[in-house]
Amino acid sequence: MSISEAVSNKNTSHKSIEERLQIQRLVEATKIVSSSAGSDVVKGLTQFPKSLPAYYFYDDRGSELFEQICELPEYYLTRTETAILQEYAGEIVKITGACELVELGSGSSTKTRILLDAYRQLNYPLRYLPIDVSAGMLESSARNLLKDYPSLQVYALAGTYELALAKLPPTQSPTRMIGFIGSSLGNLNPHECDVFFSQIINALQPGEYFLLGIDLHKSKEILEPAYDDSQGVSAAFNLNMLDHLNRRFEGDFDTTQFEHWAFYNETKNQIEMHLKSVRSQTVQLKSLNLTVNFAQNETIFTEISRKFNLNTIQQQLTTKGLVPIQTWTDAKQWFALLLCQLQVRD
Ligand code: TRP
Repeated sequence: MSISEAVSNKNTSHKSIEERLQIQRLVEATKIVSSSAGSDVVKGLTQFPKSLPAYYFYDDRGSELFEQICELPEYYLTRTETAILQEYAGEIVKITGACELVELGSGSSTKTRILLDAYRQLNYPLRYLPIDVSAGMLESSARNLLKDYPSLQVYALAGTYELALAKLPPTQSPTRMIGFIGSSLGNLNPHECDVFFSQIINALQPGEYFLLGIDLHKSKEILEPAYDDSQGVSAAFNLNMLDHLNRRFEGDFDTTQFEHWAFYNETKNQIEMHLKSVRSQTVQLKSLNLTVNFAQNETIFTEISRKFNLNTIQQQLTTKGLVPIQTWTDAKQWFALLLCQLQVRD
């Protein structure tokens, strides 16, 4: 697809939505050039124990279901983080000053509005660079934002964090902040976390900012229902991954023959999400030339959600050179928001 011309960062308020929106589709581009599409599925389903990359949660339907999860009474994460943002967005903006905002896993950009509102009060041209694997969600939420923020420019990148972080356009503001909220860091294992921090560091200039939202340690009684709610939305979200694979790779997963299974591993401080085969069965994914056998009760691991200790993560970030300059939490200390700054190297 063609990318429209770079928009001047002067006064953009008279410009149409089309003129203020650019979308770069990194996922489509790699799908065309790469013969490896689906190789991660083959790998995950042919090993023991079986697993699938969490990346496959987020087709357009999955993104919609995740938005519903965020509204669930049991899923305290979104609500708690939103309250922290509402209380402290003004402080964040005061620290960074004029700044463009990159957001990883932007989804519907609901929480982002709190930050955009705070930045808008500074009255300077504002650019927002959302990154998401769901191109549909990316475009519709960008259009909604552009309608409500007449001087905003959006440069959206549809693709994985890794690809998008490596392809960020040059900053148009005095500084930049990469936002990674919603405790998505918890979905990375410790090794992936390390790699991810390196990608963030490479995408930032010294002195630029990284805003991180993380879920903190708490009891199993609160954690488990958040990932296995009474209305079954979490289950539908997990199972949708199989539907997504069916559509994408001509598969015949029968989602009524799998169950959502989530529990808190207290040793590793992480929620573990699985799909459990309710009987022995065989599944085919035609376009991947793959036949998979499942034993009764065999599981496919889909995602972890790690819960953090505040001191430990602050130390880890500091060691990396992403120095936490301010941390905010809620009254119950369930969730934390950390504003980090890439150390100026001497
Ligand atoms: N990234 C989400 C989280 O860790 C994923 C998630 C929420 C999820 N609820 C779920 C994944 C239920 C599978 C099933 O909070």
